[in-house]
Amino acid sequence: MGKDRLPGGPSIFLLLLFLLPGDSSPTTEPQYMVLVPFLIHTNGPEKVCIQLTHLNESVTLSATLEYAGENRSLIADVVSEKDVFKCVPFTVPKSSSSSAAFLTVLVKGPTLEFRSRKSVLVKNSESLVFVQTDKPIYKPGQTVLFRIVSLDEDFRPLNEKVGQFAD
Ligand SMILES: *[C@@H]1O[C@H](CO)[C@@H](O)[C@H](O)[C@H]1NC(C)=O
Ligand SMILES: *[C@@H]1O[C@H](CO)[C@@H](O)[C@H](O)[C@H]1NC(C)=O
Repeated sequence: MGKDRLPGGPSIFLLLLFLLPGDSSPTTEPQYMVLVPFLIHTNGPEKVCIQLTHLNESVTLSATLEYAGENRSLIADVVSEKDVFKCVPFTVPKSSSSSAAFLTVLVKGPTLEFRSRKSVLVKNSESLVFVQTDKPIYKPGQTVLFRIVSLDEDFRPLNEKVGQFAD
């Protein structure tokens, strides 16, 4: 008996979902969504994304990264569209003093104000440096050819500067 009723369940649920947008009072309140990565790697490309919908006035959008005792402004823009989706790229430098960072997003207009402050975990990326030579053994006077490959801990190549070698 209970099992006979199951097939009807999902279709009623779907019907309700379809009916919701047609509701006579659609939501037009300004809405904010901030997407911040949970974990970020130092020296790697990271981003914070901000979605603003149903804005009813122009606002200033700013984002600040607070890390290792320093506040860095990532963006300070005037937004006059009603709906905006923006991703702001940033990088976090390697630091020994801190393993947490805060990202603050502030949306402010004449009547609107929204602030979000989220903490993110910072992981120092350890780079692995490989030196590869062209021969396993050299005779005196032979030129040593080698290349240096620097990879991060996920074995992605890094664009790191290596100090100059004399001879
Ligand atoms: C915009 O919407 C907010 C929230 O509904 C309201 O408090 C504010 O007065 C509105 N501002 C304007 C300029 O209409
Ligand atoms: C960074 O900003 C936060 C929050 O606005 C503030 O509490 C803190 O003192 C600031 N730190 C620096 C170093 O300016």
